[in-house]
Amino acid sequence: MKYSLLVASLGIASFLVANTASADAAKGEASFKKNCMVCHSNKPGEKKIGPNLSSLAGRDAGTEPGFKYSDGFTGVKWDAANLQKFIENPKGMFPKTKMTFPGMKDATERTDLLEFLGVK
Ligand code: HEC
Repeated sequence: MKYSLLVASLGIASFLVANTASADAAKGEASFKKNCMVCHSNKPGEKKIGPNLSSLAGRDAGTEPGFKYSDGFTGVKWDAANLQKFIENPKGMFPKTKMTFPGMKDATERTDLLEFLGVK
């Protein structure tokens, strides 16, 4: 009896650990729809008022062909660390950016969002 209780609680504990440790692309998709999709598409070729985000991973900032970026929107490679910083506080990285998004303060939400966008 005691033993099976221990096994059951270990099972629950490892389930919780697995769930908090890994990024959740489904939550990331929900967050993208809520926070980003008014201005961005993640489908190749679809244009909105912000640059297309379909192949963001590893791309240099400010390089979508035909998109008119704000002054100084350059010099950064879009890896996970830089995207974390930018999405947390866009104006902190590019003071003159025309991305009028106040920033996403929740690190877990940012990580889920990047998982959804395919950025490791
Ligand atoms: C109100 C519209 C708007 C919202 C909301 C918005 N963005 Fe943007 N985003 C823009 C615009 C406009 C730019 C171009 C910035 C510039 O030129 O200064 C941009 C640029 C970017 C870039 C740089 C892409 C490149 O080509 O270098 C990334 C990455 C990005 N946004 C991600 C996001 C994410 C993730 C969200 C949601 C959390 C989001 N944005 C929300 C309008 C928006």
